[in-house]
Amino acid sequence: MVPTTSLLESASMPTPLPIAVLVSGSGSNLQALIDAERRGDLGATIVGVLADRPDAYGLRRAATAGIPTEVIDWGSHDDRAEFTTAVCDAVQRMGADVMVLAGFMRILAPEAIERFPNAIINVHPALLPAFPGAHAVEQAIAEGVKVSGVTVHFVDEAVDHGPIIAQEAVSVLPDDNETSLHQRLQAVEHRLLPAVVAAFAAGFISVEGRTVTVASDALAGLGSRT
Ligand code: GRF
Repeated sequence: MVPTTSLLESASMPTPLPIAVLVSGSGSNLQALIDAERRGDLGATIVGVLADRPDAYGLRRAATAGIPTEVIDWGSHDDRAEFTTAVCDAVQRMGADVMVLAGFMRILAPEAIERFPNAIINVHPALLPAFPGAHAVEQAIAEGVKVSGVTVHFVDEAVDHGPIIAQEAVSVLPDDNETSLHQRLQAVEHRLLPAVVAAFAAGFISVEGRTVTVASDALAGLGSRT
């Protein structure tokens, strides 16, 4: 397991951090992570991609990139606990120390947090704690908010609730609809998520309770409003 509370320990990690990326759909965030790894900007190796459904397009992106894939089909498990055990087992088989949830639309049971403490990172298309859940962009439009954004956070037992690592605001334009706003949010996600993973892999991120500290200027330049 990756030590997240000791900056010095993790800063001296000699090898790239092995991560598993979990997807349910298109996998554009996965692609951003793959591209960052190829550029040498991730400090992490994507050792496997896991999907909860066999038709997730992200699996094809992974295969194209030569990354091993596994499907833990939500539909063929009796309950959340059993599904979570299977997911954690698969991630460990892949040799990953960290899970990155990149558009993974299943809620994991507490076992995942016990087995990967402060080592599950999620990206969410809203400024949490506003608009948690699966309909964040639709709700932001419906509520008429003028600013939304992207949150990258550690996963805890509650949905879209864990300690916040980074956020970036995105203006909601007068003629925005769910599609247009989500497109601009995703452009931010594609920068913010790889940057956070890189900072984490470099040992620049520590968490104590709900407080996340980002050392040095690891995320400098991010967090501006677009
Ligand atoms: C992202 O916007 C993510 O925040 C949300 O689902 C979307 C997944 O997109 N939870 P993709 O599969 O990475 O393209």
